[in-house]
Amino acid sequence: MKAVRREPVDTTPLWIMRQAGRYLPEYQQIRKGKTFLEFCKNPDLAAEATLSAREVLGVDAAILFADLPTILEPLGFGLDYQPGPVIDNPFRIGSTIDDVRELEDVGEMGYVFDTVRKVRKGLPDDIPLIGFAGSPFTLASYAIEGSGSKHYIHVKTLMYSAPELWHEFSSRLARAITKYLIAQLNAGCQCVQLFDSWAGCLGPNDYREFVLPHLKSVIEQVSPHGPVINFLTGNPALLPLCAEAGGEVIGLDWRVDLADGWKMVGHDRAVQGNLEPVVLFAELPTIEARAKAVLDAAAGRPGHIFNLGHGVMPGMNPDHVKALVEIVHEHGSKTNAA
Ligand code: CP3
Repeated sequence: MKAVRREPVDTTPLWIMRQAGRYLPEYQQIRKGKTFLEFCKNPDLAAEATLSAREVLGVDAAILFADLPTILEPLGFGLDYQPGPVIDNPFRIGSTIDDVRELEDVGEMGYVFDTVRKVRKGLPDDIPLIGFAGSPFTLASYAIEGSGSKHYIHVKTLMYSAPELWHEFSSRLARAITKYLIAQLNAGCQCVQLFDSWAGCLGPNDYREFVLPHLKSVIEQVSPHGPVINFLTGNPALLPLCAEAGGEVIGLDWRVDLADGWKMVGHDRAVQGNLEPVVLFAELPTIEARAKAVLDAAAGRPGHIFNLGHGVMPGMNPDHVKALVEIVHEHGSKTNAA
């Protein structure tokens, strides 16, 4: 939390996006015999996934165990995992805004807030819990494409040919996300991250017109309740606009050098990132050299939270992730020394 506020630290803090995921044997063990949605909706199990990953890795923050598209369920979308998320009634050209519900009662996501409370009880006091949600654009993409997508044809077609409907839909999502994140902070999270996992498919003019106003509205309303990490992946050319949308911390992916990315978003923000995730498949000396290079790029200025540039992947060796934690803490104590 000191790094979020750009205060000096003894060593660089870190957590890893997707740290509680499928690469961990502890997760696979507790997930056995349950569908992913059953697992997410069981606060005891979800809390255990968060807590065990945090402990096993020795990272400085816990991440809520939940998922991006689950907030679409109370808006009227049918969600299934096969194994990635699939929406069975996507929002397409010909849909009207009445096909989507307004999230009146955030209590419909009550299982998430129960998980937050359980995790908070099980965490040491000095370990923050990070909540999260998808950004309006990324959630709209799930709702419109119906699953992951390569070219975003349905999303972009709707944006270009029915811009009013796009904005109506995005503002409905933005209102739901705002309530959802504030409720996570009220339940006990210290910080929240917005994942804009897909907005990198857009050019700057489209981002400015179709993404920025909705993202900005969420961040403006959530920030007074707790700090926001605004994470964008896929397109560093959008970073100045991403920073304009707000956030105490800007999450950088690996496609930009950390020092350059920090300059682009402004030194009046903290940054998070940005080790190339696939480096974790390499041997330890490579991991060490690459992690040190990221820390060196951030040296001399408070406000860096170490992370990968995107999530840890299934098949990665948990011992490499644990080694990374030690490397960052050890080398970070030098790069943070006054
Ligand atoms: O440690 C953590 O970060 C746990 C919480 C978490 C999950 N998903 C659990 C999960 C978080 C923060 C997410 C975010 C998420 N979900 C993102 C943003 C991060 C990113 O990659 O940009 C996205 C795009 C999703 C959507 C999603 N959920 C996909 C594409 C998939 C399938 C592929 C995959 O990565 O496993 C999921 C399922 C999912 N979400 C799993 C977990 C642990 C695996 C489900 C299983 O157990 O089979």
